[in-house]
Amino acid sequence: MGSKIRLGIVYGGKSSEHEVSLRTALSVMNAINKDKYDILPIYVQMDGSWVKGKVTDQQLHSVDSLRLTNGTASASATNSELVTHAAVPTMNFGQELDVIFPVIHGPNGEDGTIQGLLELANIPYVGAGVMASAVGMDKWMMKNIFAQANLPQVKYVGLLRSQWEREAEAVYALIETQLGYPCFVKPANMGSSVGISKAKNRQELAAALELAAKFDRRLVVEQFVKARELEIGVLGNEQLLTSVVGEVIAAKEFYDYEAKYKGAGTELQIPANIPAEVSERIAELAKRAYAAIDGSGLSRIDFFWDEANNQVYINEVNTMPGFTPHSMYPMLFQAAGISYSELIDRLVKLAMERHEEKQRNIVAAENFE
Ligand SMILES: Nc1ncnc2c1ncn2[C@@H]1O[C@H](COP(=O)(O)OP(=O)(O)O)[C@@H](O)[C@H]1O
Ligand SMILES: [Mg+2]
Repeated sequence: MGSKIRLGIVYGGKSSEHEVSLRTALSVMNAINKDKYDILPIYVQMDGSWVKGKVTDQQLHSVDSLRLTNGTASASATNSELVTHAAVPTMNFGQELDVIFPVIHGPNGEDGTIQGLLELANIPYVGAGVMASAVGMDKWMMKNIFAQANLPQVKYVGLLRSQWEREAEAVYALIETQLGYPCFVKPANMGSSVGISKAKNRQELAAALELAAKFDRRLVVEQFVKARELEIGVLGNEQLLTSVVGEVIAAKEFYDYEAKYKGAGTELQIPANIPAEVSERIAELAKRAYAAIDGSGLSRIDFFWDEANNQVYINEVNTMPGFTPHSMYPMLFQAAGISYSELIDRLVKLAMERHEEKQRNIVAAENFE
């Protein structure tokens, strides 16, 4: 040992958040301590093909230079090598790398798929495992688990697209009696507010369901809550550290994709201007939610605070939150005294610890006396 940690950064991905992932990867590569780490960029293209490269200083200046290609197209990609779809499973991660940081958001990235591949390859990786990632990506399943853990949340109805297509009237009636208007309709498996809309009457509900159903076969409808949006970071495997609480103040009617990523009128207030008692309650709920999904590494946990009634509701867990230095999660920990590069260090360490912990498990029965 004593030598540098060989860190692979897997980014891009077949996801609507491809671009965000590129930005995250660039930030991580820039911030990381180069005396401590050797970085191998691994780019997952939109079509699912993987390209690995050797990161050059020149590449660290723009997102576009991280779009590695087969060594034929751009100058920045001269050191890259195409790994075909079929070759991915046989890529010998373990020989080349000590740990992988998968910075892919959304479906096919933060949902357990890449985590599963890395489990098979038996290589330590940053962040949540397969189960926590999958649960954190599916709003319906996540809500069922929160309910089981007695976490306060807004009333919701989960349904399948086919159910709505088959018996629309019954679905409207169910939503109207269980939730009423206004309500929020969401595809269970998206992110960044894609496919989400608010419905104030049956006509809008039909349109909202039709939109959400374009993105997923699993749908969630929730009661609307007029509330402030508070977020907290959790860091750790079993011993959990929470950050300060931050607030997202959106100018638009709700915090949608544009507000989130194009900065259209969104303001982050860190720490949130709220009573200490509310922060404490949120930290407590956040740890319980994290444990309920068996989180590891990191998560940003989002809450609604209905100030008038002093009610806190959990909204969701994001197992791979935005992770540029200007994203909420790193800023929340920055405010708690942990810098961006230290955060990366800690995440790598947690990845290795979790991997080691898993090696304790007996795999084959014949090894058991
Ligand atoms: N039940 C709700 N009541 C009020 N606003 C909501 C509700 N659900 C979602 N929103 C608004 O929509 C935004 C996106 O919803 P969210 O479930 O967080 O999806 P995403 O995974 O895309 O972040 C929230 O940040 C919030 O502004
Ligand atoms: Mg959200």
